[in-house]
Amino acid sequence: MTLTQSLILGTGSYAPSHILTNQDLEKIIDTSDAWIVERTGIRERHIAAEGETTSDMAVEAAKKALAMAETDPAELDMIIVATISPDMPMPSCAVFVQAKLGATRAFAFDISAACAGSLYGLSIADQFIRSGQAKRVLVIGAELLSRVINWNDRTTCVLFGDAAGAFVVGPSNDPARGLMSAHLHSDGAAANMLTIPGGGSKYPQSEDVIAKQMHKVAMNGREVYKFALRVLPDAILEALAAHGLKPGAIDHLVTHQANVRIIESVVDRLGVPREKCWLNIERYGNTSSASLPISLDEANREGRLKPGDLVAMMAIGGGMAWGSALMRW
Ligand code: UT7
Repeated sequence: MTLTQSLILGTGSYAPSHILTNQDLEKIIDTSDAWIVERTGIRERHIAAEGETTSDMAVEAAKKALAMAETDPAELDMIIVATISPDMPMPSCAVFVQAKLGATRAFAFDISAACAGSLYGLSIADQFIRSGQAKRVLVIGAELLSRVINWNDRTTCVLFGDAAGAFVVGPSNDPARGLMSAHLHSDGAAANMLTIPGGGSKYPQSEDVIAKQMHKVAMNGREVYKFALRVLPDAILEALAAHGLKPGAIDHLVTHQANVRIIESVVDRLGVPREKCWLNIERYGNTSSASLPISLDEANREGRLKPGDLVAMMAIGGGMAWGSALMRW
């Protein structure tokens, strides 16, 4: 059986209209625009409207990706939503997306791999496409983080934003184009660096859990930072080595955006010119699983990504979970 590699056929993204600037944050917590910009590169982030849900944002991003891919929702075989901030603990965010899109044929599920979720989703989609079990897969990263962060914790609340990004994956009809490989990793020994500890089976929802804000994001930023710098360059080198390539072959680096200093350090270590990396963190903050597909969509719609270009992707987040992928666009 000939296996057909998969290609991203369409991309889309969505961010709520309300923008919260660093100056706005200065008025509610002990922080400064100068600190946030210097330490992270973030200037503003989008915040969802009251009543807006993660699946609402996911659907907006998905509609744009489906339109670009000229795919009707009814043609979808599978919907994967990567999120750590779903509408509800159960059922999945993906089934709400399925219903809102009218994607009646698709089966739908969420994956939990934090900021690496969309990359994990791309790899899962690829397996179904290659094996012939699916022809059209919708992968979405959607996060409504403003509802799961502790607005009194300045070490986290300045970092995150709400948004969604999506892509449609299908078989490539050109053997010179498509996903070459994805390389996924996890290290549960580092799980406590970045958590939402409360609300699950270990610390079920209770007044105590809420009083201690254990249902909100807790992060040891410095440790996550060091971990990211240790594993991300290797993740890209691993992907390149699998195809006998060197960093000089990369045309575009599209990455999860958590901190501009992390991205620039990785890019510099690899010797990839910084202008080959799409940067948008100053406008969105860290949108976790949404950030990679949003970056892909923006670079794509700007016309940066030309057919046949070598696109390297990387992401890392809570778990720790991380990985890389190489695609001939
Ligand atoms: O999405 C994937 C997962 N997340 C990440 O990849 C995030 C990785 N980590 C980071 O990006 C950085 O570690 C942070 C941006 C979170 C923090 O930057 P840092 O340079 O590592 O700062 P720090 O945690 O070492 O804190 C330095 C100082 C501290 O004060 P002292 O102890 O030196 O007096 C903090 O209390 O900055 C203080 N600080 C702040 N000051 C003003 C921490 N947060 C703030 C704040 N405003 N919002």
